[in-house]
Amino acid sequence: MGMYDIIDKKKRGGEFTRQEIEYFINGYVEGMVPDYQVAALLMAIYYQGMSDNELLDMTNIMANSGEINDLSGIEGIKVDKHSTGGVGDKTTLVVAPVVAACGGKVAKMSGRGLGFTGGTIDKLESIPGFNTSISNKRFFEIVNSVGLSVIGQSEGLVPADKKLYALRDVTATVDSIPLIAASIMSKKLAGGSDKIVLDVTTGSGAFMKNIDDAVILAEKMVAIGEGAGRQTVAYITNMDVPLGIATGNNIEVIEAIETLKGNGPDDFVEICRKFSASMLNLAGKGSIEECMSMVDNVINNNTALDKLADMVKMQGGDERYIYNTSLFDKAAYSYKWTANKDCYITHMDTEHCGRSAVILGAGREVKESVIDFTAGIKFYKKTGDYIKSGDIIAELYSSDKEKLDKASEYIKQAYCFGSENVSKNKTIIAYITKDEVERY
Ligand code: URA
Repeated sequence: MGMYDIIDKKKRGGEFTRQEIEYFINGYVEGMVPDYQVAALLMAIYYQGMSDNELLDMTNIMANSGEINDLSGIEGIKVDKHSTGGVGDKTTLVVAPVVAACGGKVAKMSGRGLGFTGGTIDKLESIPGFNTSISNKRFFEIVNSVGLSVIGQSEGLVPADKKLYALRDVTATVDSIPLIAASIMSKKLAGGSDKIVLDVTTGSGAFMKNIDDAVILAEKMVAIGEGAGRQTVAYITNMDVPLGIATGNNIEVIEAIETLKGNGPDDFVEICRKFSASMLNLAGKGSIEECMSMVDNVINNNTALDKLADMVKMQGGDERYIYNTSLFDKAAYSYKWTANKDCYITHMDTEHCGRSAVILGAGREVKESVIDFTAGIKFYKKTGDYIKSGDIIAELYSSDKEKLDKASEYIKQAYCFGSENVSKNKTIIAYITKDEVERY
């Protein structure tokens, strides 16, 4: 067996054996197989796809290419939640404390921002003192005592994905459904949780631009999770507009805190309630309806907010910020973009909106970029809204005047306006289990 034959086999639409997958994944991680051959193989996979068996084997082999998290030191059923990425997605900051307040266990490893999509770890680090790189021992202690902890993904987890993702990034093979499924699920399997709720985003601000592709991706990820013995369900959610109002770092944390106090924007509240109830349901806490009322209860009585504050304190952060959000730094500069005529917003290019936030300093232009925690955008009006002349469409924030000026012009290309209304997508579009696809 050699790489030439493996590439040729996939180019002709063949199905790999487990040994062939082990050969190229392990060979690539160990430096025995060169980038140029894996690049050719990725492109062959991009065009020919992978069968369910190949995908399960590849994901398991990738998951086992590095450390595997053993969460057995944490009592109870551990439930994870993962989003395929989007703009304004601060869901973890709400669902993790809500689930913990209802007696669930969330031991979560999260990522940093990637391109135009934000990352939970960057958002949490906008709380002064919050430490996202604690030892495993401390991680377990916090989950056992508080019910939740969110930390950065450890360096040793799934090295195969690190190498493959970097190569996909420069070979135009990121948006391949099987490659995305294997990349995400290998990290979920290595992360060690027992049950998984997936949020597969779709629309102009997501990897999956259309709903049918999002459903296929979700079905593949659910099949991998179930095939690996982890009960997995997926929701397809709308990323044709940013989620909630705020996109940035500390302004998203503030929006999450407001949501935990019962004052969140409607679309974000809907997603948080549904995902929390689903996670609790998987953890055996009751039916979806029963879990939903537990969720509402811990928001109404502030215990979910207290959970967030407890986690922040245990991870070295200043929990006063959770109870008094006016302590957060504010951007030195801001710009209000106002409407100059009465009309509808007929389309938003949400990826472009995310890129505007990156220009402001809320994300990284290059890996080494330093994040401006105060930078970001509030989207007061979104697709399907009627706006009147003088209404504020969006407000942009930055510590850097030049960046603010640049992004203030750039964001205007993200919107289309018209005199005819367009229908808004539902926030939650479908629910997928191993047995069925339910479209809402
Ligand atoms: N997120 C990942 O972790 N991997 C992908 O391939 C795409 C999104």
